[in-house]
Amino acid sequence: MIVYVNGRYVHEEQAKVSVFDRGFLFADAVYEVTAIINGKLVDFERHIVRLQRSCHELQLALPYSIDEIKQIHRQLIERNNINEGLIYLQVTRGNAKQRDFLFPDKDVQPTLVMFAQKTNIIDNPKVQNGIKAVTVEDIRWARCDIKSVALLAASLAKEYAKQQGADDAIFVKGDIVTEGSSSNCFIINRHNQLQTRELDHEILPGITRKAVLSLAKEQGISIIEKAFSLEEMLMAKEVFITSATTLVCPVININNKVIGEGKPGKNAIRLREIYLENIK
Ligand code: PDD
Repeated sequence: MIVYVNGRYVHEEQAKVSVFDRGFLFADAVYEVTAIINGKLVDFERHIVRLQRSCHELQLALPYSIDEIKQIHRQLIERNNINEGLIYLQVTRGNAKQRDFLFPDKDVQPTLVMFAQKTNIIDNPKVQNGIKAVTVEDIRWARCDIKSVALLAASLAKEYAKQQGADDAIFVKGDIVTEGSSSNCFIINRHNQLQTRELDHEILPGITRKAVLSLAKEQGISIIEKAFSLEEMLMAKEVFITSATTLVCPVININNKVIGEGKPGKNAIRLREIYLENIK
């Protein structure tokens, strides 16, 4: 694979980042994952607007224009011949040349790393048949609205899910559901409303979440943005998660309890189809 590091396209084996990079030492970095379908970027502008916001919240000046970042995305798609997959982008506060908690001088340039990965986004049997999830206490930091690379809690949660024979984890804070380990979480509640947690510091403002909410609105589906409990999720008619890489992914079993009829729900299937049509 050809990857991008600070202005250069190099073979992955040749790519280098300093051991003093703030991303490596302090997780002082933010990232974005954008899906590629039919060789095209999905919702690129919204991802970059969120990247700019994440940088702003960390007082990290991004020295690249939207157009420059778009060109790098396109180059990676072309050079790696990607039809379907994703582009990962990470920007860190750069190489501070030493370990110091304080921000480095202004002349230290941020590190920008980008690479592409081939994955099946449309024809993904796991996603199409619905996944099994377990809930895990949400031990992440208090600014989950920033797309920070500090993903250890998510990694531990996914590993725990795997050890339990499940496909993914859904975070709960006490009794209340926050979001998926790398996705936003939706239910069809007992009033047949599409319900998802309101945006606050506890969840990431998902790009797919936003797209799905506006498509659901167009379809005349009643929507409520309000946190729900674990109990409400387990009793829901449908549960699904959304993210750039899974789009709309039905959840058919949580904590070994069957959700709804134990198969992908009609709303999840419909929203996935409409979202895909829209992308194409
Ligand atoms: N994760 N919530 C969390 C905690 C996430 O990590 C993600 C995405 C989302 C969904 O956001 P979006 O719809 O913009 O992809 C919600 C990416 C895919 C990842 O870390 O791989």
